[in-house]
Amino acid sequence: MRTRYYIEDAARHVDREITIEGWLTNMRSSGKIIFLQVRDGTGFMQCVASKGDVGDETFEAAEKLTQESSLRVTGTVREDARAPGGHELSVSAIDVVQVAEEYPITPKEHGTSFLMDHRHLWIRSSRQFAVLRIRSAVMTAARNFLDSRGFLELDTPILTPSACEGTTTLFETEYFGERAYLSQSGQLYNEATAMAFGRVYCCGPSLRAEKAKTRRHLIEFWQIEPEIAYADLNDIMEIEEEMVTAMVRSVLETRANELRILERDVDRLRAVEPPFPRITYTEAVEILKKAGADFEWGSDFGAEEETVLSERFQKPVLVHRYPREAKPFYMEDDPDDADVTLSVDMLAPEGYGEIVGGGQRLKDLSTLSTRVDEEKMPRDDYEWYLDLRRYGTVPHAGFGLGIERFVAWVCGIRHIRETIPFPRMLNRMRP
Ligand code: 4AD
Ligand code: MG
Repeated sequence: MRTRYYIEDAARHVDREITIEGWLTNMRSSGKIIFLQVRDGTGFMQCVASKGDVGDETFEAAEKLTQESSLRVTGTVREDARAPGGHELSVSAIDVVQVAEEYPITPKEHGTSFLMDHRHLWIRSSRQFAVLRIRSAVMTAARNFLDSRGFLELDTPILTPSACEGTTTLFETEYFGERAYLSQSGQLYNEATAMAFGRVYCCGPSLRAEKAKTRRHLIEFWQIEPEIAYADLNDIMEIEEEMVTAMVRSVLETRANELRILERDVDRLRAVEPPFPRITYTEAVEILKKAGADFEWGSDFGAEEETVLSERFQKPVLVHRYPREAKPFYMEDDPDDADVTLSVDMLAPEGYGEIVGGGQRLKDLSTLSTRVDEEKMPRDDYEWYLDLRRYGTVPHAGFGLGIERFVAWVCGIRHIRETIPFPRMLNRMRP
């Protein structure tokens, strides 16, 4: 294959002639010199063309280029401290691929709803470039961490007969005459693969028909979910801490430019290092009460409570031992306190709220079987899950890290809708 050049590698090509294949984001002409802002998906670069170097014909054609026109620009890479990214291109030739029609997203301000309608184009802008490149780095970092610890990535199904996270948010569909649901979490299947392979994880979309219209909720979001046989609550708290630290570090190392574009206060991210503070749910309720919140022991925290709690700490905080009624059916009971479970949520600092949810799973067949009945879940569809407790049951634990919430926190952006290329939200499925 021919050699391809990318803006992100400009530093390796100083004083050499290269060709960049990209799109025009902005342009300014003085009549003799033209400044083309070009993006190629890996970065942004200023390309400077003078009439003398490129000739009258090319120069005039370049002056007519519109925003988002596609082009190949050939030129010599020059070091320039003033240029964004530190380099610019002295242009020798321009090959116009298409002169774009009038582009709907201009450098002026647009409303969110307009931008969301044009999400397929919006993702080309520099802020979205930064956020989505960080998202990709986050996924890679999570996988690298787990792979390096000997976890096996094993995918779990999207179409399932059984609910994992309660029946109120289920998406129902038809499966050749039978009822099926879209997966809310890979956890139950992860538990099966963990009993077969020891340490596993899955990574995929979770689908929940949540009526919550908040800046933290998507209908379709992604989780990376590790599950470990012969592990308890303390084991996963430790792994969560190490994994989140490794992921943040990796973003700091590989996406410094993107964090700069977002004007992220990176000192806040550099502070993320084990150990993370750990408090019990009951201690968290005390904090809330002292802060004046009207909150009853027993229910799960909502966005408001999570914000109050996560603003308290400089690092992510591990809140453990939630009451039984606040957590799903599969949570193991705390042997020392029958009212609470061996569950843990990690709340990100700066008010970002829950980024990880997990815990130790019920191990005992008869307790689990009672819970399935109490929840009025169709027994037949959980027999396979109960089998895991019939044949060599062991203490095991796992968690799910919500990719979009994690990315929103690392990027320091308010709304989760920008952290996934095509968000699915309450009342929005397009484009
Ligand atoms: O706390 P959740 O519901 O936990 C589970 O699904 C477990 N079965 C995971 C496991 O143990 N394997 O979801 C896990 C994480 C949350 O901490 C949050 O970060 C994210 O997924 N999350 C959402 N993100 C965006 N939009 C939503 N509607 C979300 N619901 C949960
Ligand atoms: Mg949760």
